[in-house]
Amino acid sequence: AAAEKGGFRSFMDKEIHDQPHAVADTLLGRTDAQGRLVLDEVRIDESVLRSVDKIVVIACGTAAYAGQVAKYAIEHWCRVPVEVELAHEFRYRDPVVNERTLVVAVSQSGETMDTLMAVRHAREQGAKVLAIVNTHGSTIPREADAVLYTHAGPEIAVASTKAFLAQITAAYLLGLYLAQLRGNMFADEVTAILDELRAMPDKIQQVLDRAGRVREIARWMADTQSVLFLGRHVGFPVAMEGALKLKELAYIHAEGFAAGELKHGPIALIEPGQPVFVIVPSPRGRDSLHSKVVSNIQEIRARGARTLVIAEDGDEAVRPFADEVFYVPKSPTLLAPLLAVVPLQVFACELATAKGLDVDQPRNLAKSVTVE
Ligand code: G6P
Repeated sequence: AAAEKGGFRSFMDKEIHDQPHAVADTLLGRTDAQGRLVLDEVRIDESVLRSVDKIVVIACGTAAYAGQVAKYAIEHWCRVPVEVELAHEFRYRDPVVNERTLVVAVSQSGETMDTLMAVRHAREQGAKVLAIVNTHGSTIPREADAVLYTHAGPEIAVASTKAFLAQITAAYLLGLYLAQLRGNMFADEVTAILDELRAMPDKIQQVLDRAGRVREIARWMADTQSVLFLGRHVGFPVAMEGALKLKELAYIHAEGFAAGELKHGPIALIEPGQPVFVIVPSPRGRDSLHSKVVSNIQEIRARGARTLVIAEDGDEAVRPFADEVFYVPKSPTLLAPLLAVVPLQVFACELATAKGLDVDQPRNLAKSVTVE
């Protein structure tokens, strides 16, 4: 087993460090000689894909947060409404789904029963189902109309890490493919984003190379009772996933919030010493989201929160209000989740390890939940 872990303490640690490859491999072989995006696996009629008027992403757990990231990217690039729904909620609420709906089922294992039941229901309603799955030969791809495989390699640790980054990557490819097919983007625009995507594995590696400080802080925080996570736009699902990792691995009460929602409730939770991770959008982004989130940091800091900030290289505006800043390389806003989530994974893994917990096999959880 030690050899299988490649020198790492745990599969979780190894899989976190495998993430540059998981993303690179998921991008591999998906362009032609001219560098144009080709997704041969999407075996759904182009005429059907052109007439789709709604996309519904269904998934559970971490895969559902990958779906949330997909929503921001696909709506922006394709101008098609995207809903993201937990598979078990989708299945039993009589959803509006028909021949013009594309359902995207996201699952690492391809065996999650809740997701499978939702896939069946969607197909019964006439929708086409595209699966984004990591495991070849699994059930969901067999029952779907098409499958876009993530190439993360086998994920052993129960809580998902590298599959999450690969799912987000596959969702970007799908979004760009649809934008190209439906005429929402010019070929050179698609190529430019593909180039940015191909630069992400090196940037993820840089985040890993710089993770020493986050590990140190995680070890100091081993006795922490509660941690909050705030994010906005694509940082919101990142915050949710950061909280989920901490619950799963370290059994700590953790909650993720949309930063804009802070004043509508969660700010009441802030008391002196409360640790809060804040995922800050790029200052180069649109709509002043950066300054809005910096104000949030200021507000919680003024109430005594310990602010642990994830920000882009060069962002000095966060410093005065941050107890700690974890800088990540610059990237386009929509791609930033591939970087921002990594320190949160490392934090949860390290803190749980410091507590003496088995990060590969957290209590009460199963890698693949094959019952409803
Ligand atoms: C279980 C695992 C999670 C995973 C979820 C969905 O709850 O513990 O880590 O995110 O299932 O699994 P799937 O295989 O469908 O992605």
